[in-house]
Amino acid sequence: MSVNADSLSGRVVLLAGVTGELGSHVARLLRARGARLGLLVRKPRQVAEITQAFAGEGVLVGSVGPQDSEGAAGFAKGVADSLGPIDALIATNGAFAASTVGKEPSGELAELLEANLLTVATLARAVVGPMRRRRTGRIVAVGAAAVEQASPGLANYLAAKAALHRWIVALDRDLEGSGVRALAVLPTTIDTASNRQTMPAADRRGWQSLDAVSEALVACAFGVPPAGPLYRVPA
Ligand SMILES: NC(=O)c1ccc[n+]([C@@H]2O[C@H](COP(=O)([O-])OP(=O)(O)OC[C@H]3O[C@@H](n4cnc5c(N)ncnc54)[C@H](OP(=O)(O)O)[C@@H]3O)[C@@H](O)[C@H]2O)c1
Repeated sequence: MSVNADSLSGRVVLLAGVTGELGSHVARLLRARGARLGLLVRKPRQVAEITQAFAGEGVLVGSVGPQDSEGAAGFAKGVADSLGPIDALIATNGAFAASTVGKEPSGELAELLEANLLTVATLARAVVGPMRRRRTGRIVAVGAAAVEQASPGLANYLAAKAALHRWIVALDRDLEGSGVRALAVLPTTIDTASNRQTMPAADRRGWQSLDAVSEALVACAFGVPPAGPLYRVPA
């Protein structure tokens, strides 16, 4: 995929999942390149911490619950009014669980669907109308390459990510000819502090760096888009 995203000066991004490892990495990268940011957390009590971490000109922080369509629309409007029209939604939020169906905590599948699909859909609804009207924009989410492997113990997680993939593919199809694209970046295992801690003995050779995954997200948001809506981060 061809990428020309060195300077994002003045471009406006709605970025979700910013309390997470990937989301905070993407926030730092976008800021370093001059983007204006609407940063989203899911709980009001997280706003102060993120404001402290990323405060500055051209940054707004807000909280929107995973299924709060009204809140999402309100925050998106506030961002557009004060920072400019939103060029891209980058939704890095998501959750993982390894479990055996029947032995997993009650409600796990619903929680995974909320974290991996419903939050993305809620935010996409808030930005897609204005993007259609401007005939430009990108909606970019984070899927998982693991969906293609069907590893044991991951039924609920893989179902949630697979649902996200199909939703993105269908949305991208709906948007055909509109100037707007919907895309998902599909990493393998990311080299995060959390993964290092929970899998200390793992062979990390196949893991992907936070930089590589972040660059793939920025490329999907601002570069020449990949041919299809599901973009596998190169090894
Ligand atoms: N780490 C990997 O190896 C890996 C591999 C493939 C794909 N991915 C995907 O990459 C993305 C980022 O991963 P990460 O490692 O940075 O994860 P992370 O550090 O656990 O961050 C996850 C983010 O998602 C948010 N979130 C969790 N549950 C949510 C819910 N129900 N509703 C809304 N937001 C929710 C978290 O918010 P709170 O702080 O409020 O919990 C946090 O901001 C995720 O989509 C993940 O599935 C990760």
